[in-house]
Amino acid sequence: MKQIIVAVDGYSSCGKSTIAKQLARKVGYRYIDTGAMYRAVALYALQHGLLTDQQVVEALPLIRIDFSIQADGSQHTLLNGQDVETAIRTLEVGNRASQVSVIKEVRQFLVRQQQAMGKEKGIVMDGRDIGTVVFPAAELKLFLTASPEVRAHRRYQELLEKQNTDAADISFEAVLQDVNDRDYRDTHRQESPLRQAEDAVVIDNSQLTKDEQMEHVYRLFAQRCCG
Ligand code: DC
Repeated sequence: MKQIIVAVDGYSSCGKSTIAKQLARKVGYRYIDTGAMYRAVALYALQHGLLTDQQVVEALPLIRIDFSIQADGSQHTLLNGQDVETAIRTLEVGNRASQVSVIKEVRQFLVRQQQAMGKEKGIVMDGRDIGTVVFPAAELKLFLTASPEVRAHRRYQELLEKQNTDAADISFEAVLQDVNDRDYRDTHRQESPLRQAEDAVVIDNSQLTKDEQMEHVYRLFAQRCCG
């Protein structure tokens, strides 16, 4: 069967990783969460007290990001060999990730690695610029969206379930504000702003169940890869 590249882009907390992971598992493809890579750079910056863009850029050669597959099939992000999967999921790291993701050199550094991962195809990659910058020729491009309230609700639940250190005293309003701020930054930055590729299929999943969404996405996948 022909191997293809599936690019999944969209706003934060609209279920990109859920659908991307599900599809990858179903069709036996590799899944890459590029948000985790920006988060890993952000965590490094926080851990090392890097405050300016220049400091972050100078540290890039010291940052190595890998993914390890767990026994249950899930993926964990490694930062210089250390498992940081839990540490990168906090609101603090998410906000710093949004800041470092506007730095041109950071994007170039990560995009190069992402393109190398897709050389053999057979990959589902999610992010903000996958269908526009990383793989403009991807055979299937999905653009996911959902209302800010629905997304804030999902992220709020996620934070509570994960019991991150900063989740205990978090309010729904703060999460909603965070979602709106991040949307603004993601769509208004100069370097590779979040935008829908012209040939992307838009999926608004505010009202869709996970199963309905998966059915729709799998049908699109089958058309592109076997049609
Ligand atoms: O999807 P996420 O919340 O884990 O992403 C963290 C931040 O990284 C988010 O602010 C957007 C940014 N990002 C990006 O600019 N480009 C990507 N391909 C993936 C994430």
